[in-house]
Amino acid sequence: MKLQNETLNRWADEIWDKIVNKVSQTSQRIGVSFPYASVNGTYTDEDADWWTNGFWPGLLWLIYQHNGNERLKSIAAACEEKLDEPLHAFTGLHHDVGFMWTPTAIAHYKLLGSEASKRRALTAASHLAGRYNAKGKFIRAWNQEERVGWAIIDCMMNLPLLYWASEITGDPRFHHIAVEHANTTLREFIRPDGSVRHIVHFDPETGERISVISGQGYSEDSAWARGTSWAIYGFTLSYRYTKDIRYLAAAKQTAAYFLSQLQPGQAPSWDFRAPADSKAIQDSSAAACTASGLLELAKHVTEEEAVFYEQKAIEILQLLDQYYGTWDDSNEEGLIRRATANYPKKHFVEVPIIYGDYYFAEAISKLRGNELSYW
Ligand code: GLY
Repeated sequence: MKLQNETLNRWADEIWDKIVNKVSQTSQRIGVSFPYASVNGTYTDEDADWWTNGFWPGLLWLIYQHNGNERLKSIAAACEEKLDEPLHAFTGLHHDVGFMWTPTAIAHYKLLGSEASKRRALTAASHLAGRYNAKGKFIRAWNQEERVGWAIIDCMMNLPLLYWASEITGDPRFHHIAVEHANTTLREFIRPDGSVRHIVHFDPETGERISVISGQGYSEDSAWARGTSWAIYGFTLSYRYTKDIRYLAAAKQTAAYFLSQLQPGQAPSWDFRAPADSKAIQDSSAAACTASGLLELAKHVTEEEAVFYEQKAIEILQLLDQYYGTWDDSNEEGLIRRATANYPKKHFVEVPIIYGDYYFAEAISKLRGNELSYW
């Protein structure tokens, strides 16, 4: 979309310049590595198989797409090559191969037609398809023995890798698996009020649901904010690839819930049903991911609804810019403050996190008219 309002256009351009300036600076230190969370202003560097490793190269591709900067392109391509190690080691990999190879290999393929990148993404898609449990009709999330029957809401964001693989190969089986998993998620994860569960445990032999597990949320009945964001964006993308109206309805329902829980002037609480003693802990990454998801959702609804979702996305992005942006702090490598990775485990609480930065930049890039989706 391109904004029609001149003031908003100027704002989006200014923010984009701030993103580009900061990332151009930080890329000189971060280079070919895998930043995850910013501690005291400096991004951590993760092992190659960590699920967030696609976001830094993805951020660099977004910028390259706008300005053709060859240095950033080389770093992004080298990060992608570094991911070959976990891709080919295979056994350590989990379901988050969509998060890892979509903003890297698929971005590279869509932007520059790299055949090696296409092969990498197809290899990742084959891995993801191989995690499908045909009895329970779900994709297994993680590898631990006791988690063989676990599926999680986040996987909705991995499904575009499968839809894309079917488009590229002409083989519908990847698409079939994505649809079955999305249907299971629709049935088992989305509550009538639009809040979502994080983990559902199925019997891996019979496919029967055994239990609901709280995971990164406060409890099995609570509403982990970022999980809601994955549902909003993920169901929107499943709708884009399938045109199944139930997915669009789920995206709208989860978006309505998310928006109804926001407090004026604040990013979401880490869990919308957190108890009083931790309710003030925020997760700005959920806001960034939701904003980008709402801009995608706006493409698939009536004009009136589109205006509403765009307006909500802009409000969120302006909030993040004004109160959470690190533009005035040259000692901070992250872009957006106060993202929370895992509050129950006290793992990176209220610090910049790479996926918050990525989705913020992705959303701003969309506002400036970028129509190419990596997802
Ligand atoms: N996919 C894990 C998370 O959102 O933290």
